[in-house]
Amino acid sequence: MSTIKIHDKLFAVSITQNMIQEEIKRVAAEINRDYKNKRPLMIGVLNGSFMFVADLMKNLNIECNISFVKFSSYEGTETTGNINQLIGLTESIEGRDIIILEDIVDTGLTMHKMLETITPLNPKSIAIASLILKPARLKVPVYVKYSAFTIPDRFIVGYGLDYDGLGRNLPDIYDAVE
Ligand code: IMP
Ligand code: MG
Repeated sequence: MSTIKIHDKLFAVSITQNMIQEEIKRVAAEINRDYKNKRPLMIGVLNGSFMFVADLMKNLNIECNISFVKFSSYEGTETTGNINQLIGLTESIEGRDIIILEDIVDTGLTMHKMLETITPLNPKSIAIASLILKPARLKVPVYVKYSAFTIPDRFIVGYGLDYDGLGRNLPDIYDAVE
């Protein structure tokens, strides 16, 4: 098994770029079906979602808008629990069908805060699409309507996800090797 080293940790490929593209096509087909003629506003959560957003958008054939927001809460391999404020949401979302695009739902605290922040702005509907779910770590209930992969409680990097700032550029997803 070929491994790579990022900072102090070894990582091995767990989800290949082909598998990622295949599952993103499936998720896009679900969104194309559910949002036909609805013109949803996709909101990508930076930084981690940028590759997922790009590949998902290329597979959407419906009319849609895209905007990006940002939180910063993650340091190293453990969530700090301090979720910062949402920044970057400049347009009105009132009456819009919103699809939040996230890289991974881990503890769920980020998505919980996101919902808490945007629900009072009166969108018509809100759904979450996350590339990855790590259900073992959920601390608050969050309903994720669309997801590509569900993984066990392991730290991953690549395809937008980082380990202390590195690894976002990797085209495959890697698991930390014990
Ligand atoms: P939360 O714990 O659900 O709030 O997740 C917050 C953020 O932590 C995610 O959006 C990711 O950016 C990051 N994150 C969670 N798990 C991992 C992981 O395994 N690798 C890299 N980043 C992660
Ligand atoms: Mg994220």
